[in-house]
Amino acid sequence: MPPLRLGIIGSGKGSNCRALLEAAQEKSLHYEPVIVLSEVSHAGILSLAESFNIPSRFVEPGPFKTRLSEDAELEILSQLQAAHVDFVALAGFMRVIKAPLLEAFPGKILNIHPSLLPYFRGLEAWKQALEANVHETGCTVHIVDSGVDTGRILGQSRVPVLANDTIETLHARIQEAEHELYPRMVHQFAHELIKKEEGRRE
Ligand code: GRF
Repeated sequence: MPPLRLGIIGSGKGSNCRALLEAAQEKSLHYEPVIVLSEVSHAGILSLAESFNIPSRFVEPGPFKTRLSEDAELEILSQLQAAHVDFVALAGFMRVIKAPLLEAFPGKILNIHPSLLPYFRGLEAWKQALEANVHETGCTVHIVDSGVDTGRILGQSRVPVLANDTIETLHARIQEAEHELYPRMVHQFAHELIKKEEGRRE
């Protein structure tokens, strides 16, 4: 079966998106990035996609800070459907996903979070880890559900917290781990979806 078509959604600089795009460019993987969407018009993730020749679109988010308006969510859905996306990876997307997207891609939206979930859900998880004085944190790839960072865990990488760490050094070490973990998990997840689909056809 050909690789599954992946849509990527993010709000920021897109270093995880870069890791996903680079991995797919370097090796033959079970996913193929086909569109990048952002609700932030100047987000680095959009220009990054262009530099990889992947179509990218800004979607006006509406008036709320932590979620999308219903129109925005429907617009994202229609962009994903127009690009014939099979599954979705959030890459630094800063808003919660609601029913229209969750229902259109049931169990098929992945996220990467900068902690060893279930610890340190929510914003600035690396800062939460530093403040909690833990010796180890990490990153988690999970399925997105209607909660915040609560969906089924697909994989994790551990990262040490060093005595002289600052927010910046710890965040950078976690991001390095993210860039290795996310493409590997997205590839593996796509492979599982393909096997399920083939099983259904037999
Ligand atoms: C990452 O640390 C990710 O874990 C979190 O948001 C950050 C996005 O960074 N969900 P980037 O835009 O991929 O560089």
